[in-house]
Amino acid sequence: VQAELRFQLTRSGLGPDRKTTMVRDVRAGLSTRPRSIPPKYFYDDVGSRLFDAICDLPEYYLTRAEAALLASHAEPIVAQSGADVLIEIGSGMARKTSPLLTALCRRSAGLARRPPPLYVPFDIDADTIRRSATILLKAHPTLRVHGLAGDFSRDCKPMGLVAPPSVGTRLFAFLGSTIGNLDEDEAPALLRAIAHLMTPSDRFLLGLDLVKDVRHLHAAYNDASGVTAAFNRNVLRVVARELGGDVDPDAFGHYAFYDERLQRVEMHLVSERRQTLTLTAADLHVDFDAGEHVLTEISRKFTRESAERTLVEGGMALTDWLTAPHGAFALCVARRASDP
Ligand code: SAH
Ligand code: TRP
Repeated sequence: VQAELRFQLTRSGLGPDRKTTMVRDVRAGLSTRPRSIPPKYFYDDVGSRLFDAICDLPEYYLTRAEAALLASHAEPIVAQSGADVLIEIGSGMARKTSPLLTALCRRSAGLARRPPPLYVPFDIDADTIRRSATILLKAHPTLRVHGLAGDFSRDCKPMGLVAPPSVGTRLFAFLGSTIGNLDEDEAPALLRAIAHLMTPSDRFLLGLDLVKDVRHLHAAYNDASGVTAAFNRNVLRVVARELGGDVDPDAFGHYAFYDERLQRVEMHLVSERRQTLTLTAADLHVDFDAGEHVLTEISRKFTRESAERTLVEGGMALTDWLTAPHGAFALCVARRASDP
């Protein structure tokens, strides 16, 4: 079967909706202090490619640690979940997903009367879904891919429409510690939306970065080659382009640090001088003092306790906890709580 016939893409809630949401988000974030911009706006085509480059940085241990965990545990995770379908939330380039897909395809090949293996990558950036699907379809000749371009912080229902329980048992995966980019309210809210879609036999696989020494954390978000700084500044380009803005991203510096009390990395853009950011489509003029900060991202670091608490608040129950050497990273397998 031709790869094109094995791929389809559904878009949901982007387009004109995206602009309305962006105006509301950016206006709310920039007109109150401390100023902030939601991290989902990092990921246009340039931002997705910069994030992909971050994953290769020597300082960014997260991707390698999670990839190693998946390489050794994907097979039993998929076998125990009994999954026919893998739904990946915030899939990006899906560079660590192959071991899960290999296990999925192998499982379905060995079982008569099972549906063909299906992968549903869900991301805010449609181009990234297309690029990753092209690569994965070549590597997995029996796989079907149904991409979903949408915003998981606004609407998770499309996942249930594209891959309803009738297509088979589903494994929902949320990798890369993207959950750490959501705060104490947003993370449980997203998990609840996912739990709400799950049947008692579906499983949830979560990749989490763990609390560790400040030195490693600092280096991972302040790489020597400046890719993270470029990624951080890119959010200004995205917002300026889509909201009719006039901004010089180089007039903002990258600033990231680990807050030990809050157990999170904070990423900021710091205005290098007094300047005004004008966004005509949002009818917004924002005055920055020299040294003024915009919070662009948090990256929470977890312990087993805080991970379990987040899952419970999200209507899920932990069934497996797997950690990388030196406690660098963790994979959690969870099911829907019996009383979600
Ligand atoms: N899972 C990949 C990528 C992690 S980066 C990995 O582990 O390497 C976070 C990914 O989530 C990006 O691909 C980004 O486009 C996507 N993303 C961020 N916010 C999103 C949102 N609100 N809705 C859908 N996708 C989102
Ligand atoms: N989920 C990733 C993380 O928290 C996202 C990320 C990595 C990121 N590096 C970044 C986001 C730099 C903004 C800037 O590690």
